[in-house]
Amino acid sequence: MATERLVLRGEEEHDLPLVQRAAEIIRAGGLVAFPTETVYGLGADALNREAVRKIFQAKGRPSWDPLIVHLDDPEQMFTLTRDQPASIRALMQHFMPGPLTLVLFKTAIVPDEVTAGLPTVALRVPAHPIARALIRLSDTPIAAPSANKFGRPSPTTAEHVLHDLDGEIDAVLDGGGTPVGVESTVIDLTTHPPTLLRPGATPVEAIEALVGAVHLLQSTPAEGEALRSPGMSARHYAPQAQVLLCPPSPDSLYVHTQRALHAGATVGVMKPIGWQLPSDPRLRVYTWGEWGDWRVLAQRLFDGLRWLESEGVQTIVCPLPPPQDLALAIRDRLERAARS
Ligand code: TXA
Ligand code: MG
Repeated sequence: MATERLVLRGEEEHDLPLVQRAAEIIRAGGLVAFPTETVYGLGADALNREAVRKIFQAKGRPSWDPLIVHLDDPEQMFTLTRDQPASIRALMQHFMPGPLTLVLFKTAIVPDEVTAGLPTVALRVPAHPIARALIRLSDTPIAAPSANKFGRPSPTTAEHVLHDLDGEIDAVLDGGGTPVGVESTVIDLTTHPPTLLRPGATPVEAIEALVGAVHLLQSTPAEGEALRSPGMSARHYAPQAQVLLCPPSPDSLYVHTQRALHAGATVGVMKPIGWQLPSDPRLRVYTWGEWGDWRVLAQRLFDGLRWLESEGVQTIVCPLPPPQDLALAIRDRLERAARS
């Protein structure tokens, strides 16, 4: 199939008909990639089983990995789920719309295709105006994983989406780069205390300040724990190159880069501004951002990994951010990308 690219301009008169066109495709059971504040999602009508199956086909996603359902109105959580804990109200008030996904027990309205047969469903209310408009005009909840081939870095531009999925989806709404760049935080509210299933754009510290302690899953899950969030166990977010992580200092980045070059590889580096590197014709450098400016580093993470990959490097060297706040989400994605 030919993938329609619907390029938005940020002017209502121009954009509205394009979002309406995308909503028609969703209502007809098709697949539309669209920007959210985190990354691009690959959307289908969450209440249409056939449409949801197409998402798994297009992504090459295993059927055991459940999808996030995107809502326009937070109150819809109460028709799609049951037995919510009292803390849900505070979480809704503080973090919705925004990059927080809640896992709750589902009602019969939610098809098993969406949840991979689990008794729970993951839900979020995106903050991006295009995502909101698309859900509203489609007049149905939209199931959407990140719009990449399974296991690849998430897409933060329409170009990234088309690189992975051109010809396999009906349309992409091109709203430019996504502002946050890493995915939503996923919290399981069916456990006491709640469990952090995926660190993401909403810092877990902010969630704990509101609802108390949250159980942290180890990034290498213990036996049994991996099953709690099926998508979290595999190697993920990975470019074709081997990712090598190093301690976050200029000296360490320099030495690790030199070592990779000596090993004979073409090397890509995710380089913080102002850090020095050896000069070598086999080196490709992505200037990532100021070290410590986690917002910028998160926003540019997947773009950097994808760019270095497109330059054909065999190894990517990257300093590893500390395990706190937004840096934890970047660190988590890099650790998964480095797993082989
Ligand atoms: O920011 C985001 O969350 C993006 C945008 C498009 O909204 N979406 C996204 O979806 O990252 P995806 O499919 O790439 O990741 C969803 C994660 C997976 O790790 C999946 O296993 C987990 O959420 N998940 C979904 N439903 C679940 C459930 N019922 N129980 C536990 N984990 C669940
Ligand atoms: Mg994903």
